[in-house]
Amino acid sequence: MGTNLLGKSFLKLLDFTPQEIRYLLDLSIELKKQKMSGVVNKKFVGKNIAVIFEKDSTRTRCSFEVAAMDLGMGVTYLGPNGSQMGKKESIKDTARVLGRMYDGIEYRGFSQKIVEELAKYAGVPVWNGLTDEFHPTQMIADLLTIEENFGKLEGLNFVYCGDARNNLGNSLMVACAKMGINFTAAAPKELFPSQELVDTCIEIAKENNSTISLVENIMSATKNADVIYTDVWVSMGEKYEVWESRIKQLTPYRVTKEIMENANENAIFMHCLPSFHDIETSIGKEMFEKFGITEMEVTDEVFESKQSVVFDEAENRMHTIKAIMAATLGI
Ligand code: CP
Ligand code: NVA
Repeated sequence: MGTNLLGKSFLKLLDFTPQEIRYLLDLSIELKKQKMSGVVNKKFVGKNIAVIFEKDSTRTRCSFEVAAMDLGMGVTYLGPNGSQMGKKESIKDTARVLGRMYDGIEYRGFSQKIVEELAKYAGVPVWNGLTDEFHPTQMIADLLTIEENFGKLEGLNFVYCGDARNNLGNSLMVACAKMGINFTAAAPKELFPSQELVDTCIEIAKENNSTISLVENIMSATKNADVIYTDVWVSMGEKYEVWESRIKQLTPYRVTKEIMENANENAIFMHCLPSFHDIETSIGKEMFEKFGITEMEVTDEVFESKQSVVFDEAENRMHTIKAIMAATLGI
């Protein structure tokens, strides 16, 4: 039977089969080719989407907006202020109102429960643009970027260095398990993903001939790695006070030239962005003044190196979000 995602929400990768993820990747490739060759595909003229952002965003917001406009759709942006959502109106009521006006809704915010609730009551597809627990649209872009570099996904060795229990650590572990990629988290024990999610992923990985490992020693974790991935040490929504302890915990897990040299020769470096690889940001500068560090999760040298594919990855957010919307709205 063919894959049909019409009307389905995109809330977390655990809800999708490897075949459905494959379908989204193939559709992304097709839509990217169209965009690159200047083919205009306004398949969804007459449709409109709402994009809700309770947290900041550059890539995700712009990807949804550009992808929607490319497809001929109208877009309404709702920021952390300016709507009734959450303050005077429940998520359930907001979902039922927006679902009467829009053909699809993107949500970025805090608890996964909120996006699940939105999807339950909206009556139209809801797309998770990041919650505290998961960042599934990022996963399709990351898988596409890996495949563009290696020509395959199955059997590759993927290592995530850093806060392995944040939305990226969780999502990447699921994405790798689903697609037959060997996943290793290099992190201190206290930042390992929850045992429940690890157990779920071990089962999924078994079905797809891959492995899940949690390792504290970054050198042994990154040996034979094809992909080295990292993310910020403190995520949006976390308390400011955690910076100091997180810097202490995760400095040994910074991605350096030594780590990249320890990996396979053709290994790539990935990061969902934004990244603290210099002190050209207000937070970066502040951490330099407080703790004397000029780089955090990755050195500027690795970030700017030939092995770094971070901007291809960022571009792929747009092509893959377009595919997710098109598939669920009915391409
Ligand atoms: N990677 C990512 O989600 O970036 P933004 O926070 O800029 O959307
Ligand atoms: N873990 C990061 C990802 C940002 C795209 C955060 O939630 O802030």
